[in-house]
Amino acid sequence: MRSKITVVGAGFVGSTLVQRLAERDYADVVMFDIVPNMPQGKALDMLEAGPVLGFDSQVTGTNSYEDTVGSDIVVITSGFPRKPGMSRDDLVKKNQEIVSQVTEQVVTYSPDSIIIVVTNPLDAMAQLAHKVSGFPRERVIGMAGVLDTARFRTFIAQEVGASVKDVQAYVLGGHGDTMVPLSRLCTVAGIPIAQLISAERIEQIVQRTRDGGAEIVKLLGTGSAYFAPSASVLQMIDSIILDKKMIMPCAAYLQGEYGIEGLYVGVPVKLGAKGIEEVVEIELTPKEKELLQKSADAVKELVAVMGI
Ligand code: APR
Repeated sequence: MRSKITVVGAGFVGSTLVQRLAERDYADVVMFDIVPNMPQGKALDMLEAGPVLGFDSQVTGTNSYEDTVGSDIVVITSGFPRKPGMSRDDLVKKNQEIVSQVTEQVVTYSPDSIIIVVTNPLDAMAQLAHKVSGFPRERVIGMAGVLDTARFRTFIAQEVGASVKDVQAYVLGGHGDTMVPLSRLCTVAGIPIAQLISAERIEQIVQRTRDGGAEIVKLLGTGSAYFAPSASVLQMIDSIILDKKMIMPCAAYLQGEYGIEGLYVGVPVKLGAKGIEEVVEIELTPKEKELLQKSADAVKELVAVMGI
């Protein structure tokens, strides 16, 4: 039987993700939104691309959680996107209510699912979904690190004129201004970037990565990024559905790893059929540890704002 994936929120991120998933042809996809008819319309439009692109995935749009029943993976993208000038952190109260309500429905209709949270502020929303669902940490994962790392890799590849495929990197920490791009471990075809790019340029690229979301928000005028975010969720889902056990940075509930307890922070994890199959601990320098701790403190503040 085909796997079943539900995407909650049929906005820019959600619908782009559903399109990407349908084209993968390994699962049936349900797209849920509270706006009447809209997810049905988008789903039908995507389904009608099947004969042209050659996929048999069923794509269903709905306003009823009953249609999501028994999903293997549920992706939560519902919420308000960031407006220009608004920090990710300002979003917390706005999206807390939405993510809580959605998570309750996920628990009711897909109690064995793996939840991937995309709604911002990411780390806080992942913490909320973990708390509300009562699911083990293996099954509640936040998408941020893959996107932040993709941005970092894009800029590094541009800088040295290399293929993005040859650029390996990790961005850890919270998905916000305090994220921690580990430039020390960034390589191009195995060569550390310190041998290829000046320290000053690396620092500029690190800063551009930190501001990556805001750069897009400013250019778009309304709304926030969705092409790279949906591609990043897709990579996580590939690793889960195909049990590839890829290691990628995701927001995970830490229980002492990296010296952090009881908090969602971006760290490398192994993703397989069971969700998070391992939290991978990289040895950090004292400076990197300090930055990661700072980032964790920022997440903690947001969690405190939610009062959970
Ligand atoms: N249940 C389901 N869907 C909801 C709910 C709800 N309670 N509340 C809002 N939505 C839907 C909206 O109707 C809208 O279609 O969520 C969708 C959000 O889509 P967009 O406004 O297009 O936002 P998008 O760009 O997709 O971003 C979604 O992902 O990257 C993050 O910061 C971003 O938090 C934002 C989220």
